[in-house]
Amino acid sequence: MSRLLQWLDERLPVTATYKRHVGQYPAPKNFNFWYLFGALSLLVLVNQLLTGIWLTMSYVPTVEGAFASIEYIMRDVQYGWLLRYMHSTGASAFFFVIYLHMFRSLLYGSYQKPRELLWVFGMVIFLVLMTEAFMGYLLPWGQMSYWGAQVIISLFGAIPVIGDDLALWVRGDYVVSGATLNRFFALHAIALPLILVVLVFLHLIALHEVGSNNPDGIEIKKYKDEDGWPLDGIPFHPYYTVKDLVGIAGFLLVFCYLIFFMPQGGGLLLEGANFEAADPLKTPDHITPVWYFTPFYAMLRAIPDKLGGMVVMAMAVGMLFVVPWLDRCKVKSVRYRSWWHKLNLLQFACCFIALGVIGLMQETMLLKVIARILTLGYFGFFLALWFYSKREPTKPVPERVTFR
Ligand code: HEM
Repeated sequence: MSRLLQWLDERLPVTATYKRHVGQYPAPKNFNFWYLFGALSLLVLVNQLLTGIWLTMSYVPTVEGAFASIEYIMRDVQYGWLLRYMHSTGASAFFFVIYLHMFRSLLYGSYQKPRELLWVFGMVIFLVLMTEAFMGYLLPWGQMSYWGAQVIISLFGAIPVIGDDLALWVRGDYVVSGATLNRFFALHAIALPLILVVLVFLHLIALHEVGSNNPDGIEIKKYKDEDGWPLDGIPFHPYYTVKDLVGIAGFLLVFCYLIFFMPQGGGLLLEGANFEAADPLKTPDHITPVWYFTPFYAMLRAIPDKLGGMVVMAMAVGMLFVVPWLDRCKVKSVRYRSWWHKLNLLQFACCFIALGVIGLMQETMLLKVIARILTLGYFGFFLALWFYSKREPTKPVPERVTFR
């Protein structure tokens, strides 16, 4: 084995890469629970790629065959039901862990210098992931797949001058049809996963170039021993591989419980209306996206004008891109920042969750007004951050990481 490895090493940097990124990657010794979600995102990504490949073996991307092929996978393909539930529950799990992963970065200022690019890669991943999930949702060709796609694609029509042509270009037809299904399948199964994998690779390379942040928001590279090893660093393997395994086991317990006992998740993981085949002549009473899109959907509905709603929704994601430049505070971690910042982060998270809940509900005038207030709270976060962050009173940041 060692001679084989030596042979390989002389031709490909296998051992050097392993050492640089795993065996001798100096990770801060104070990582906490919040640092689990990057590893979980990787796990769920692999789950989606593998189950997706096997689903594709029996899925038929045509108007006549799509819905029936899903039923076939559920009933006749051996363990097809398991593959499908792993994939559908996996999509929700992906957004769940990604939202927590993003919130962790906001808590500890992981987007600040020198990690701006890492954050921007993350945001591009988030955009691609949203597109991937949206396109995947059309594939079962159920009522909600069809009408959800119809509503969202028609939004493009509100863009001045090019809107109608753009919507036509995206659909490939005047209504959502077989042409739309085919292209969404191609993008969902091949193009977007490829892009996603490349982006995740870049995300991790960018992370390892600058090194990990930590709950104290201190750069551990500042203090090194005579061998150049950070004093507050420990090798990623075995310390965090083992720690992550514990978290992964906990995650899998919940994930398997959902797959085996609650695969529809009360309509949150799979929507009831999607068990009916798409019918272009029958609009469902209540069209809602899956839960992970509802915060943005609630903002869209809160604005009376279609174009305005679209702009607000796009800005809701766009503002996150520029957070590294809005936050002008020298201190990274929420632990040492002012109570304004703590309050601002808390109200931001509350607004986002409340918008998500409202987006799941049938629209009423009262809810519309509440959604508008929450949308203001959401955008207020960014505005306030820009204003107070420069002059913010902060607590003294310790020289070395705190670790109990
Ligand atoms: C497929 C999606 C993603 C995967 C597989 C992924 C994976 C990872 C991993 C393994 C880490 C190191 C462990 C950790 O810090 O938790 C990490 C760090 C990080 N990720 Fe992601 N990530 C993804 C998406 C995102 C998104 C959407 C964002 C934000 C927009 C983001 C922002 C960050 C930041 C800022 C760090 C550095 C954190 C720190 O050092 O404190 N990531 N990511």
